Amino acid sequence: MNCNRIYSVFLFFFICFTFNAKEVSVKVSKRYLNLPISQRVDRATMDIKVDGKSERSFAIRLAPDTADYWVFCDLSQWIGKTIQINYEGDNAGMGKIYQSDEIADGKNLYKEANRPQFHFTTRRGWINDPNGLIYYEGEYHLFYQHNPYEREWGNMHWGHAVSKDLIFWKELPIALYPDSLGTMFSGSTVIDYGNTSGFGTKNEPAMVAAYTADGNRRQTQCIAYSTDHGRSWSKYPGNPVIDSKEKWNSTDTRDPKVFWYDKGKHWVLVLNERDGHSIYTSANLKDWTYESHTTGFWECPELFELPVDGDTTKTKWVMYGASGTYMIGSFDGKKFTPETGKFYYTSGSIYAAQTFTNIPASDGRRIQIGWGRIGQKGMPFNNMMLLPTELSLRTTTNGIRLYSTPVKECDLLNETAIRQEGPFSAEQAGELMKPYEHSDYLRIRTTIKLSHATSAGLNLSGQSLINYDLNFNLVNGVFYSPDDITSTEITADIFIDKTSVEVFIDGGAYSYSMERKPDPGNKEGFHFWGNNIQVKSLDVYQLKSIW
Ligand code: FRU
Repeated sequence: MNCNRIYSVFLFFFICFTFNAKEVSVKVSKRYLNLPISQRVDRATMDIKVDGKSERSFAIRLAPDTADYWVFCDLSQWIGKTIQINYEGDNAGMGKIYQSDEIADGKNLYKEANRPQFHFTTRRGWINDPNGLIYYEGEYHLFYQHNPYEREWGNMHWGHAVSKDLIFWKELPIALYPDSLGTMFSGSTVIDYGNTSGFGTKNEPAMVAAYTADGNRRQTQCIAYSTDHGRSWSKYPGNPVIDSKEKWNSTDTRDPKVFWYDKGKHWVLVLNERDGHSIYTSANLKDWTYESHTTGFWECPELFELPVDGDTTKTKWVMYGASGTYMIGSFDGKKFTPETGKFYYTSGSIYAAQTFTNIPASDGRRIQIGWGRIGQKGMPFNNMMLLPTELSLRTTTNGIRLYSTPVKECDLLNETAIRQEGPFSAEQAGELMKPYEHSDYLRIRTTIKLSHATSAGLNLSGQSLINYDLNFNLVNGVFYSPDDITSTEITADIFIDKTSVEVFIDGGAYSYSMERKPDPGNKEGFHFWGNNIQVKSLDVYQLKSIW
């Protein structure tokens, strides 16, 4: 324990035992307030007042004795001020909280035993949906649902990270804090180039965030803006901008996705309301008009236009919800008209995926990031983002379908690459994989031919990475029919991280993600299986850490 920490602990004990322990006054001298957490105690409210005004209020399980782990609250904006901290729970933990310019246990940051090495995770706390994905002036912004004070869901804030290449991320301070309208649920961002909202300055268009405030049995839609590249945010004083509870008689109205509809020169907001996605339009991002509704989706709406087979003169619109099931159709700026059934292109741990807005026309990609519902056992952080993928529409034998492939920037992760042209027998391929079986971070590209087998696959330490059943047309238990319906081959692009596996089948026609769960008793390592199968190619890449 360093001197500062001893002093801070002493200060807190002194204050706690001298005055009413429920509320202490502290002069802020360091950036972080480090807070001990115990999952064994109930949540209680901590309130931080500055100049008599409540600035932070959150539920926390302050550890009265041994901490399971530590979280932090960034106080840097109040350095030099005296703040009041009030805790409604067991105040024994108040004596342990301390100020520091370092987060507690930060020395091991990003090297923790169960830290994913090439997927984004937060330093401390919980994350779920990606929010506000946007590219702006050389930076990709990843905002996300975040509980900074516990490894479980709650206290929703918008966390924030940036990257120059979609792969190497830097976590920044929190973007949106809960306010009197509620906690900060999911939403999106746009750049208001035309300053339709009036939030921009002479030199800088506003980045405008549309999000849901989850209030007391009411979800309303609000906006906030930033003129410093998402570093600091102001909430619009006229919030909420949409309050649709009366119309829908429902508390489930959330997750606004906003984009500029150039043909009609207006903004479009897609909102999940009860049983589907509603479309609203606006000239200024503040005043919204309800236009239409498409049933059959739940949470986290998306709606975007994509060229079919890369032909920009032939486009279709894709609508999806949090589960990723999608419809293809047309959109006239006010109404989405589905033209197909509902399909899926991905399954497994993915949820609430969102696509980036404002990708330059010269790039033209539709890039998506999904939440990976994969826990990080025993860690002071929990859950993760999946790899960014590029979405495209391709004509298949069954009609137009959505494909999802890892973005080309994933190649930045490659440390070593070994390309091996087969064909190999299952045994030979297993031998070739032997050097990698204890490697934590790998990408494997392989094509398996099943000419004598009804099913075949690849396991890692007893866990099924691919299990292709050509008889029942299943990949890892989910129906899959290859575009070439007579094909007896399956191609997989597999990413193995510390706690997760992502698999892209047949060039992105179908993909899935899962927790990495080796069977501790299984000594098989990589195991190709199937009756007389051929492993036609086997490319192995050892991957870098992004931290
Ligand atoms: C989806 C979701 C959203 C909501 C957010 C809350 O995972 O339930 O609908 O805005 O998470 O964290």
